Amino acid sequence: MKKITISDLFAMKNKQKIVMITAYDALFAKLFDDYADMILVGDSLNMSFNGKNETIGLSVKEMIYHAKAVRTGSKRAFLVVDVPFGAIYSKKVALKNCIEIYKKTGCDAVKIEGGSEIKGIVKALSQNGVGVMGHIGLKPQLSRKEGGFKVAGRDEETAKKILADAIELELAGAGLLLLEGIPSELGKKITNSVKIPTIGIGAGSDTDGQVLVWSDAFGFFEEFKPKFVKRFLDGANLIRNAIQDYADEVRTKKFPSSEYEYTK
Ligand code: KIV
Repeated sequence: MKKITISDLFAMKNKQKIVMITAYDALFAKLFDDYADMILVGDSLNMSFNGKNETIGLSVKEMIYHAKAVRTGSKRAFLVVDVPFGAIYSKKVALKNCIEIYKKTGCDAVKIEGGSEIKGIVKALSQNGVGVMGHIGLKPQLSRKEGGFKVAGRDEETAKKILADAIELELAGAGLLLLEGIPSELGKKITNSVKIPTIGIGAGSDTDGQVLVWSDAFGFFEEFKPKFVKRFLDGANLIRNAIQDYADEVRTKKFPSSEYEYTK
């Protein structure tokens, strides 16, 4: 079981699709590790597991807590950790927070939302030896400011800006790019314009890889379903059926039967 490195991901570009999924704890990271090339400790955790309606609100400390658990469960996948909202308001603060995440979690890269406006931060991180994944297109950390999660790059001007962001982030030293919520043609154009691997979520089928939030993909998160989410499992109903069976058996005294009891 060889650990996946950034060189492996570069070698996969144009040859083999890269599979990425989120995880927030060791239990699920361990389950995903044999199948996914990359695992993301995303700040989507604030929505899928903390029950909030946005990704804003997590601290660096909380991201580190979850990422350490994921690193414990995942031995093979390339691990990326999200830098939470508000953690990069200056270059100095960004370096401090990102290096802390990198050192304490053992992740392979930190992921930062933002385009050309953060190229100075990306350059400083890269020069200090920190792996960086850029995140452009729909940026969930801006959902409050922008009034929701909106597909980006539908008009020519914004599409040009997103393509320019991709190129500037690559030049600044980003080793990977996450493309979220953009038209498929733009996803393809960016992927063909940069040498670094692109991972898409709602960015069409031509990106170098795909990522999904696991609780979306496996049907546990029921608040809403973005167009790009395919549910590979009816997770929430499986759990409802299981808890119903458990509750019924406790109430009818069917459980615990003798096989689950200790003898003297
Ligand atoms: O936080 C997250 O899970 C993300 C998704 C877009 C994959 O960044």
